[in-house]
Amino acid sequence: MSAVDTLAEPAPSTTPTLREGAFGHATGLACRECGHQIALGPHYACPECFGPLEIAYDFPAITREEIEAGPANIWRYKALLPVPTDIEQSPNMEPGYTRLLKAHNLGAQLGIDNLWVKDDSTNPTNSFKDRVVACALSAAREFGSKVFACPSTGNLANAVAAAGARAGIKTVVFIPSNLEKPKQVNSAVYTESLVAVNGNYDDVNKLASEIAGEEDGWAFVNVNVRPYYAEGSKTLGYEIAEQLGWRLPDQIVIPVASGSQLTKVDKAFGELIKLGLVEDKPYKVFGAQATGCSPVSVAFKGGTNVVRPVKPDTIAKSLAIGNPADGPYVLDICRRTGGAVEDITDDEVREGILLLARTEGIFTETAGGTTVGVLKKLVDTGQLDPTLETVVINTGMGLKTLDAISDQVGPAATIEPSYDAFAATGLA
Ligand SMILES: Cc1ncc(COP(=O)(O)O)c(C=O)c1O
Ligand SMILES: [Zn+2]
Repeated sequence: MSAVDTLAEPAPSTTPTLREGAFGHATGLACRECGHQIALGPHYACPECFGPLEIAYDFPAITREEIEAGPANIWRYKALLPVPTDIEQSPNMEPGYTRLLKAHNLGAQLGIDNLWVKDDSTNPTNSFKDRVVACALSAAREFGSKVFACPSTGNLANAVAAAGARAGIKTVVFIPSNLEKPKQVNSAVYTESLVAVNGNYDDVNKLASEIAGEEDGWAFVNVNVRPYYAEGSKTLGYEIAEQLGWRLPDQIVIPVASGSQLTKVDKAFGELIKLGLVEDKPYKVFGAQATGCSPVSVAFKGGTNVVRPVKPDTIAKSLAIGNPADGPYVLDICRRTGGAVEDITDDEVREGILLLARTEGIFTETAGGTTVGVLKKLVDTGQLDPTLETVVINTGMGLKTLDAISDQVGPAATIEPSYDAFAATGLA
């Protein structure tokens, strides 16, 4: 159980009056543990058992053509999200519909026949977090929240600060004070209220839950509006299937911090099957962690359902959540689908960054280095079948974590501006 899961949710002081269709086809909030349902509201914990809540829907019949006729962003899937049909009218970052690239060179290097990279580094603030934040922003608007906030390992803070600026809503974002400088700057340019907390992410998260209980009208995207926020990650799954020609991949490798993204990609695949938008077929889900923060991988390998919290110590700071809210669900999914959760050392994370850059021209951050490095380890250890169609998700951008590899790359030579000097380098 995570910090979010175990904290009793404070009783809301007011129940917001919702406008008709504020949450599209969402019908309520359902407990993932006991199934208890409550009305839509800014809630995240089950009043019966404190289990995490998620959105329940009554989906309409929807066709591939209707989706394809939509905008080139996540709102093409708005009928499957907890957002109103007029969502495009409200200023937002319009994230998503990022590239799915055939990774010929990386595939050849790793011995995988049919490999794709879903490149989410091209989102507006350069990580997949723009997707989840867009859904959280819609919820915050519908609930009439006056402050848009988050505890973050970095990327989420960037996405919340930017989306809040564009929407004209006050933002306050909380980060661990030892975060990479580029991620701090990437939040501070958009908001005057970046708060650096002396502690790790789990401390920041606990503080956010406390503030959410004390302050009225604050939407903490990954705390009290987490059920709405989390649904945004489903769009990664929808896009991958659509971009493959309305087909599910055989295997997918996804980084794990809180584990929310992995669980929602799986949820998306399941929904597409149920809605008849893709053929029902088996697929395997693999989770990627850095060894210095690998509570889910340790539990997977230990054959247990209990995710023991750890104190993170890794260069993959965006994945440094020691007490992951969705850890047990990640274990369920990876076991049910026949996948695995694996972890790699920080040196292997750096190698993963360079491998993706030098084979596919994609500069990923440490989270992507972790995912690519784990993909390699899964092949090397025989856990992933290299003959099956595989997708690896790149969730972030390398310019935000330059320090991770700046000691390893640089000029091959520094020369005077003459041909002779260049010739002497042997680089011709
Ligand atoms: C770049 C990047 N990738 C992956 C993740 C993991 O996301 P989740 O917390 O949904 O597992 C994060 C977030 O914390 C991130 O910033
Ligand atoms: Zn419950």
